[in-house]
Amino acid sequence: MRYSVPKGLFDIVPQEPKATDAWRCSARWQHLEKHVRQLAHDYGYSEIRTPMFERTELFVRGMGESSDIVSKEMYTFNDKADRSMTLRPEGTAPVMRAFVEKGLHQLGQFHKFFYIGPYFRYDRPQAGRYRQFHQFGVEAIGDASPEQDAEVIAMLADLYTRLGLQEWTVLLNTVGDSSCRAPYREALKNYLKPHFEKLSEDSQTRFNKNPLRILDSKDRGDQDLLKNAPSIHDYLSPASKVHFDSVCKHLDALLIPYSIAPNLVRGLDYYNQTVFEITATALGAQNSLGGGGRFDGLLDQLGGPDLPSTGFACGLERILLTMDAQKCTFDTAFHPFVFVVPLGDNAFDAAYQCTFALRREGIPADIAPKGRKVQKALQLADQKQATYALVLGDDEIQSGTAKLKHLQSRREIDIKLDALITTCEKLYANN
Ligand code: HAM
Repeated sequence: MRYSVPKGLFDIVPQEPKATDAWRCSARWQHLEKHVRQLAHDYGYSEIRTPMFERTELFVRGMGESSDIVSKEMYTFNDKADRSMTLRPEGTAPVMRAFVEKGLHQLGQFHKFFYIGPYFRYDRPQAGRYRQFHQFGVEAIGDASPEQDAEVIAMLADLYTRLGLQEWTVLLNTVGDSSCRAPYREALKNYLKPHFEKLSEDSQTRFNKNPLRILDSKDRGDQDLLKNAPSIHDYLSPASKVHFDSVCKHLDALLIPYSIAPNLVRGLDYYNQTVFEITATALGAQNSLGGGGRFDGLLDQLGGPDLPSTGFACGLERILLTMDAQKCTFDTAFHPFVFVVPLGDNAFDAAYQCTFALRREGIPADIAPKGRKVQKALQLADQKQATYALVLGDDEIQSGTAKLKHLQSRREIDIKLDALITTCEKLYANN
């Protein structure tokens, strides 16, 4: 019996046989994760890690029963004590749960967290959409200002710039506060009511449960109907309007280009005021590289202090696919600096000692397996893209001298074995 990875999941491996799958090579993930961590560091966000699954109720309360994620996409199971658990489909609700549970508000007024990890959604897999995918996300707690919203938007834009991505667009909108959403919801329903029969099935369901979500519909017919629909911007309270204008003003000042997308509401119930998404043309249908917004009531709703919050999450698979499509450059994968080639079984023990001595000094080193013929061992050194090969046989060990062969130029350096470490340290430092 041969097993295969379940549908919608994938492995991350050191090398992929097919060039089109190179985005799943571990070196690319490490490159991306390194940039993400550096970005978080540069913006003052600290790492938070929450468990892979939580009580189902947390996500139902957090994202809202009518959201697509809660109603259709959660991996939910009962544990042995018959409690309903769900593999986390997103990171915001768990971070807020941890914040409340640990009473982190006691440690200060402002908090900035980031997270990287796997998330789970049961949806039809396609390019850019997986059932286990990875997000980098941030949540800033305690600051209600439009400056904080602009910061998280600019931070995500900065990530894409640092990675060398081009042709992405910031879509920006506001969903106002509860005082403007209620009359807007009514206005939208009144506008759509005469067209109800023409709405898609999903939108018909949303009509009563959560009519604002109809604005998010990808259905062509729905989109046509929405062309003349009332806009949230005509229903904004003065405070919401000031907030939104100020976010725009700060993005202008930070030279972040954006388009106002009046129909962008995002799928989750917790948003208020600012919402945004960054899309990339290279991605096809699954074009959202990342998104987020303000979610001021969530902490309070989860039993915590009533602190304002804003944040985003972005999909690492989609970033890597876009980087691939746009031929962005990546750090090179790990390669041994010295590949030791023992000549014969007698020399193996000394060669083995040398390999460990190099490693202990922080010089990446590897050794050919015992019994390999020299030609095969040198092929292995090439395959591993080692910088140097060090051939060690009885003669070398007896004379205390050996040759360090630069595998690309084929140039050889004579070295004394008792100075192996210092010589390699110098070469490695100048590498
Ligand atoms: P979201 O829009 O549901 O937001 O997901 C954020 C990003 O995760 C998407 O833009 C996309 O890049 C990626 N993503 C989502 N689903 C999949 C999938 N099935 N396969 C691959 N990538 C996917 C949230 O999750 C919110 N928690 C963001 C947030 C944080 N809002 C405030 N703070």
